[in-house]
Amino acid sequence: MNGLLETAQELAGAIQTGLTEREEKRVVCEVLICPPFTALSALHQQLGESSLKLGAQDMAVESSGAYTGEVSGLMLRNVGCRYVILGHSERRSYYGETDEVVAAKTASAYRDGLTPIVCVGETLEEREAGKTLEVIDRQVNAMLPSLPETDSKRQTLVIAYEPVWAIGTGKVATTEQAQEVHAHIRAQLAKALGDATAGKIRILYGGSMKPGNAKELLAQTDIDGGLIGGAALNANDFLAIVDSLPN
Ligand code: PGA
Repeated sequence: MNGLLETAQELAGAIQTGLTEREEKRVVCEVLICPPFTALSALHQQLGESSLKLGAQDMAVESSGAYTGEVSGLMLRNVGCRYVILGHSERRSYYGETDEVVAAKTASAYRDGLTPIVCVGETLEEREAGKTLEVIDRQVNAMLPSLPETDSKRQTLVIAYEPVWAIGTGKVATTEQAQEVHAHIRAQLAKALGDATAGKIRILYGGSMKPGNAKELLAQTDIDGGLIGGAALNANDFLAIVDSLPN
């Protein structure tokens, strides 16, 4: 909930321009922005068929009907979204979204033709109690039955590991901490879905990623990309993170 429409338009325009100047990056990575709902329609028109893709920050379980205040996956597709973030820690902690709700939304995203970016992550208390991997397993396993049956569709899944204590706090997980959890998630996915599918699922790191730490994080074997919050509010910082991706 950062910025009004004009800010979103300016930011998207600057990022789009930056991307067109980075042909080599467009080959190795997919770049998308997930602005607030109110900016989606205008940005869809502004971006057209640009390589900069659009996603939303949440969606309803249902496709349509009397659900006052909700926005469905079909509505999001209608304004150009291809992706949707689900189960962000702020949704889980402020709005009571449980693992079951996130699982239901994951199924709905596939049903409505959107690629889900499912967020998982432990709180500081859980990390300090040595429960990080247990929490991650619970969150990942709850969502797996919602995946489609075909491997080609399952491979489109995106998971974002976001330690809650690192989101918006300036505290970033060390590369070792992040890689350990990412490798664990990959292994869990391999057990449930097979090595080939697990190898293709993208696992993003989120939590105070910025130009100064992105290169090291993105160089880790199991860190396939980033979910960037604060640093995405500045086009140059966001583009510097894109530049940090290994070619
Ligand atoms: P941050 O946010 O990059 O500002 O920590 C990440 C997020 O909101 O998921």
